Amino acid sequence: MASKEQVNRNALPSHVAVIMDGNGRWAQKHGKQRVFGHQNGVVSVRDTVEAAAELGIKYLTLYAFSTENWNRPQEEVDALMMLLVHSIKSEMESLQKNKVSLGIIGDTEKMPENVRDELYSAIDETKNNTGLKLILALSYSGRWEILNAVRKLARDIKNKDLDESDLSFEHFENYLETSKIPDPELLIRTSGEFRISNFLLWQIAYTELYFTDVLWPDFRKADFFDAIVDYQSRERRFGKISAQIKVNKENEE
Ligand code: IPE
Ligand code: IPE
Ligand code: MG
Repeated sequence: MASKEQVNRNALPSHVAVIMDGNGRWAQKHGKQRVFGHQNGVVSVRDTVEAAAELGIKYLTLYAFSTENWNRPQEEVDALMMLLVHSIKSEMESLQKNKVSLGIIGDTEKMPENVRDELYSAIDETKNNTGLKLILALSYSGRWEILNAVRKLARDIKNKDLDESDLSFEHFENYLETSKIPDPELLIRTSGEFRISNFLLWQIAYTELYFTDVLWPDFRKADFFDAIVDYQSRERRFGKISAQIKVNKENEE
C-alpha cells in the first residue's frame, strides 16, 4: 500500500477519473441490501476527494450514475437519488474545508427536480473555491455526450455560427461536457471489471487505465495513492518510440 510520501509531487496527473464500481457486491458480501453498499460508498468518495485535494490534483471526475443506470430497478434508482441529495448536504462542510469546487457532467435534465436544485445550489456555493475541481458524472454516458455535441454543432453550422472548414479537434471539444477540462491522464476502475461502461469515450484516447479488485466501499486514500504511484511508473509514449520520450524528458530537466 502506497503512502502519500511515495507519490512524486512533480509528476502528478492533473485530472484523475474514477469508475466507482462494486457497491452491490460489497453489500452482498456483508449480507445486506444493495443500497447499503451505495451508502458506504459515500465514505470512499470523501476519502478519495480528500486524497486528491491533499496531493494538489486539479480535477477529479467521479462516475456516479450512468445513462444506463436509469434501467436499474426503480427502488434502487430512487434510493441513489435520495442518497445523492443527502450526501451533497452532509459533505458540504468537508468540500468547503478542502476548498473543493463542484461541477457536473451529464444529462441533468433527466434528474428529478429536487436533486437538480440541490446540485446547482452546491455548485453555486462552492464556485469560488480555488482547490480541487470535483466533477460528478450523473446521468452521463460518453456516447450521449458525443451525440449531444454533434447536435449542438450541427445547429451552429445551420445557423452559420460555425463554418465546417473551421472544425478542429480543439473546436469540437468545446461542444463536449468537459470543455475547458483537460483529458484525464489516469482512469481508475474498482471492483475487478475490465471495461469502460460508456465513460468519457472521447477524452480517454490516451489515458492510462488502472484496474483494482478493491470494491468501491473499501477504497481508501492509500488505494488512491497506489494508483497514482503505479501511473507514475508508466511511460506515456503517445505513439512515439521510447527513445524519443527519453530525449524529450532530458531536455525538460
Ligand atoms: C457502482 O456500484 C455504483 C453505481 C453504478 C451507481 P454497483 O451498484 O454497480 O455495484 P455492483 O457492480 O453491482 O457490485
Ligand atoms: C459503471 O458501473 C457506472 C458507474 C460506476 C456509475 P456499472 O456497474 O453500471 O457498469 P456495468 O454495468 O458493470 O458495465
Ligand atoms: Mg457495477
